[in-house]
Amino acid sequence: MSLYPFVRPLAFALDAEAAHRLTIKALKLAPRRPPPHFPDVLRTNVAGLDFPSPVGLAAGFDKDGEVPEQMLGLGFGFVEVGTITPKPQQGNPRPRLFRLREDRGVINRMGFNNEGQAAAFERLLGCTHLHGIVGVNIGANKDSADRIADYVAGVKAMSAVARYLTINISSPNTPGLRQLQDEGALRALLSAVQEARGSDGPPVFLKVAPDLGEGEPDQIIRAAIQHRIDAIIVANTTVSRPLLKSRYRDESGGLSGEPLKPLALKALREFRAASGGEIPLIGVGGIADADDAWDRIRAGASLVQLYTAMVYRGPGIARRIADGLAERVRRTGFANIAEAVGTG
Ligand SMILES: Cc1cc2nc3c(=O)[nH]c(=O)nc-3n(C[C@H](O)[C@H](O)[C@H](O)COP(=O)(O)O)c2cc1C
Repeated sequence: MSLYPFVRPLAFALDAEAAHRLTIKALKLAPRRPPPHFPDVLRTNVAGLDFPSPVGLAAGFDKDGEVPEQMLGLGFGFVEVGTITPKPQQGNPRPRLFRLREDRGVINRMGFNNEGQAAAFERLLGCTHLHGIVGVNIGANKDSADRIADYVAGVKAMSAVARYLTINISSPNTPGLRQLQDEGALRALLSAVQEARGSDGPPVFLKVAPDLGEGEPDQIIRAAIQHRIDAIIVANTTVSRPLLKSRYRDESGGLSGEPLKPLALKALREFRAASGGEIPLIGVGGIADADDAWDRIRAGASLVQLYTAMVYRGPGIARRIADGLAERVRRTGFANIAEAVGTG
């Protein structure tokens, strides 16, 4: 039985950021559990990595790489730590994290608060022996004079401890960052990143925003394929505001969770149409149960990630979704999850 229904009211009585800190502290103290055994039909290879389950933890929960092992133990098939910037930075003033309970969403304007790459590197060194997949999401410092140089520094600093790297150019909370998605800037960035990675670095994923204009997915796909990017993560939080009930609806920042779901699914479909399956996609945004994850896979995602639904439904969510996916694979007669990708 899950304890989360009892813990949730306590966590929700606290300010959202305090609850998050407390959760990380509790996870650090909890006894380590080895990752569960997943049904074989869920095993899938993306970018040369063997994922035991396609359900991963999205970036932003474990920004500093404090608890990746614990999250694998809770049943995530892979864990993305970060975003980590070259230098430590405080992020935006508080409050900067809001639960939109009536909407089952979150608005955050954290602004890449993190302890920097040197601190994360030390912590993650202890994880390189893990069988599970721990990816590292890298970004640029807010005050950086040369943002591309920050990503190059991230590739160089973190490659040795990352099973994959994610280039995050889609956070709405670092002013101007998303302009790196524009074609010219993107090509310059990707070419610098690939040069820094060299021939023996980890796979590189690119994380995009769900708020793109007409034609932008096409441009991004073309640039990504040309620069040998290994997968695209669709998507980050949205700056748009669908109809929301919560009193925090007008807070600035990125919206995640249930209200993001239709937008993120639409963006995924656009990227699938633009790529025709030529580059693996990772679906994120508003995934809360096995049906949501299955829809994303049928729409073209090889893997999925989530964060916000864990706040509302508890840490057992990854395992529940994995079991539900395995059941759907069997029921539909596919041999494994990879066969279902892009069939819907
Ligand atoms: C509090 C919070 C912090 C986040 N921080 C990051 C981050 O540092 N880097 C990043 O790439 N995405 C970050 N995200 C975005 C998530 O990784 C994910 O793309 C987004 O929340 C949509 O998924 P979800 O609806 O399952 O939460 C953050 C999300 C939340 C809610």
